[in-house]
Amino acid sequence: MSLKESVQHFQTLVVSFHPVIVIDTLEEERVQGLIGAACTDLQMAVFDWSIAQGLMRSPESPQNRWQNEYAPPGAKRSQALDKTTEPLDMLRHIQEISFKAIYWLKDFARHLKDPVVARQFREVANQFSHNRSTLVISGSGHSLPPEVAHDSVYFDLKLPQPEELYGAVSDVVRALKGRVKVELTPEDIHALVKALQGMTLAQTRKVVSYAALHDGRLGPEDVKRVLERKARVIHEEGLLDYFPSETNLAELGGFAGLKRWLNCAKVGFTPQARQFNLPAPKGILIVGIQGCGKSLAAKTIARQWQLPLLKLDAGRLYDKYIGESDKNFRRAVTLAETMAPCILWIDEIEKSMGQSSSDADGGLSRRLFGYFLTWLQEKSHEIFVVATANDLSAIPPELLRKGRFDEIFFVDLPEADERENILTIHLGRRQQGLAAYDMAALVAATEGFSGAEIEQAIITAHYRALYERQPASTALLLEEIKRTVPLSITRREDIQRLRAVARERFVPVR
Ligand SMILES: Nc1ncnc2c1ncn2[C@@H]1O[C@H](COP(=O)(O)OP(=O)(O)OP(=O)(O)O)[C@@H](O)[C@H]1O
Ligand SMILES: [Mg+2]
Repeated sequence: MSLKESVQHFQTLVVSFHPVIVIDTLEEERVQGLIGAACTDLQMAVFDWSIAQGLMRSPESPQNRWQNEYAPPGAKRSQALDKTTEPLDMLRHIQEISFKAIYWLKDFARHLKDPVVARQFREVANQFSHNRSTLVISGSGHSLPPEVAHDSVYFDLKLPQPEELYGAVSDVVRALKGRVKVELTPEDIHALVKALQGMTLAQTRKVVSYAALHDGRLGPEDVKRVLERKARVIHEEGLLDYFPSETNLAELGGFAGLKRWLNCAKVGFTPQARQFNLPAPKGILIVGIQGCGKSLAAKTIARQWQLPLLKLDAGRLYDKYIGESDKNFRRAVTLAETMAPCILWIDEIEKSMGQSSSDADGGLSRRLFGYFLTWLQEKSHEIFVVATANDLSAIPPELLRKGRFDEIFFVDLPEADERENILTIHLGRRQQGLAAYDMAALVAATEGFSGAEIEQAIITAHYRALYERQPASTALLLEEIKRTVPLSITRREDIQRLRAVARERFVPVR
């Protein structure tokens, strides 16, 4: 939704007798911009209130009748109305105002916990539902009491739009005039604004000011700096982990079938595919045995396609205060959309949207799942979802239905040639010349081992070699391998069950 559309939507709510509009945000400057723009058109007065300042007529308000008489000529600053800092006094006061106005109450939800304030608030709301005045509540993290929520409508203030970000960049450039050189072509500006998407205006101003002041210049190289900063912001918010494509060095042995599929699917992102009205690939689900490279595969896809990788931290979705989880999920998805084209990796999807937890959490995981399915079906951004799962029985069957994902892959224990690949990767990573190893013996000895178990045996053998001050060798490694009891033995039945279902329904990764 563009800024203009947001303003129109807000105006429509106001004129269609919605007495209470709730905007869940901490970005007050944008609420101010929105209300200001809406009211100029509507020719309505605007008041704002905070517990610290009381009720005052907004300076931008049309026909500002309450301008401070004592202010110097031309001064815009209004003065608060007498005795309006207390919520109850303020509500009684606005009940007496007879002309149409918008009352923006900052951080007001917390005051509605007081039953007297809540009651008075409802009376005002009731009065406003007849005369088109509107109460706007902004703030974050506080829910409304049910009787107030009933009269309210939520307004979703989307993240800043490109034009707003552009405006913020222009503000910074103007403010720093003379101190920094701006060397941006129109394409650079476009790239910069794209890199800024997903940030708030305040974050944007900070990042851009820093990038400019750091070396006295705002140039094309700052786009990268902004992206790095955004990675940190995304990480600090705690819902997504960001792996930039430059630092992704994942190396996956085997998975030849998946790699072939990916090479083919990649064309789905090209302009030629758009010409033929082909949709971009939606995503894949990788189901399989523990430690066999599912998570690694997600990283490898991002590497192969040279796209940024965002990992959704499902645990963190629930971590914060419950009830906020839906919002957290939406926020994560919106952030991911600002990074498109990118890979959104949902590791162990059954844990966040599985069936088993549905009763325990009052249906929250079902709701999240429903939201996710709709989003997956309708998403218009170029976001490729890679979901992984171990426990097939916990995955809601809807997710496995054809058409949800482009493909569902099954990862079994690695076969001989794949084990050789995995051994080669992990020995190579420990600076080992392969010629010194008896690969055939190692491949044979690791039958039934997962990639993770092979890697662990290599690590342990190397510790021992270092400790005993001898070079690592086939013999040492074979000893470690013999000492390992792989999951394929300890959890034989589970694995056989998974295989029986998955082999006939899903595509093998090799
Ligand atoms: N095919 C492979 N090629 C290279 N390394 C592998 C492969 N499979 C597993 N590994 C090694 O094992 C580690 C664990 O693998 P990974 O985390 O991808 O497994 P997983 O299938 O996601 O397991 P889990 O179900 O426990 O999450 C990897 O970091 C990697 O070092
Ligand atoms: Mg994993």
